[in-house]
Amino acid sequence: MLEQIRELQAQALAELAAASTPEALEAWRVAYLGRKGALSNLLRGLGNLPTAERPAAGQAANETKAALEAALAARQEALQSQALAQALEAERVDVTLPGKPPALGQVHVITQTIREILDCFVGMGFQVVEGPEVEWDKYNFTMLNIPPDHPARDIWDTFYIAGWEGQMLLRTHTSPMQARVMERTQPPVRVVVPGFCYRHEATDATHESQFYQIEGLAVDEGITLADLKGVLDVFARALFGAERQTRFRCDYFPFVEPGVEMAIDCFLCKGQGCRVCKHTGWIEIMGAGMVHPNVLAGVGYDPTVYSGFAFGLGPERVAMLKYGIDDIRYFYANDLRFLRQFR
Ligand code: FA5
Repeated sequence: MLEQIRELQAQALAELAAASTPEALEAWRVAYLGRKGALSNLLRGLGNLPTAERPAAGQAANETKAALEAALAARQEALQSQALAQALEAERVDVTLPGKPPALGQVHVITQTIREILDCFVGMGFQVVEGPEVEWDKYNFTMLNIPPDHPARDIWDTFYIAGWEGQMLLRTHTSPMQARVMERTQPPVRVVVPGFCYRHEATDATHESQFYQIEGLAVDEGITLADLKGVLDVFARALFGAERQTRFRCDYFPFVEPGVEMAIDCFLCKGQGCRVCKHTGWIEIMGAGMVHPNVLAGVGYDPTVYSGFAFGLGPERVAMLKYGIDDIRYFYANDLRFLRQFR
């Protein structure tokens, strides 16, 4: 009997060592320690032993039972910690891997250009102000020396607000801010005004129906055309290079007298003539002039005391020239492949 118990224990422990899943362990437990298992069977045979042998055999069987139970518990624990180690290994997070950077936005190239232009004028003592895009006809035209039915209105193809035709419109330029600023301040005035403008015209490579302008206005005693030229020279050189030449030619805007159109020598071909300057050697970049006495008088300034200059430029055109872009529509097509180039 004792021999049988030893053999049973040895066989059970060998099988236990080979069991490696929870199912196999449970099958092993039923086979050896279950109510109908091998050990119970042996114990049932105890009754057939001679009385003298029973205590030793009973003790041996109990020891084996305890040994098998302890071995099962140890094996269960070993398998559990092995499974845990495997799961941890499989789910391991490598904190040293590079992260996924969030997509960062960037400042739009036209905003960058506007800021660069404004910086230049702020450095010369101009203040930045903004005004409404939905504007009264009075400011957009009448106070700029363009009375109702004046043919000069045809220069600007205007979007009127439905129901307010002839009265309320989307501003066609930033010039209405000249009158608005002067109305509420006394000279000296030095402002630059960035903002959207709208024109009811067909779009093409150099025209959008919604575009930016930057207006400039300086009014004080004794301001002359030389001041206008000096300020715009500084601007041209700040944006397009210290060696830039400027050219001023007569132009007509009802709210300035004299009116000029300013051009810079082509920074690409240095005035030799190329595609960018349309083979003229010069690139026109803005309209400007001395504020018309009627405009000064219209806001209550005495034109015999005060004089001033004004200018209006298109930052999209500036950016096109600066970066060699041949179609203004790229700026607003929201194609990130294009926009990401201007970081
Ligand atoms: C004017 O709008 C005048 N208010 C400028 C001015 C101000 C003159 C002060 C005198 C004194 P003009 O229509 O030329 O002028 O427009 C000025 C600039 O705005 C142009 O040189 C161009 O750069 C830009 N611009 C005009 N129309 C468009 C358009 N459809 N798309 C993009 N840019 C435009």
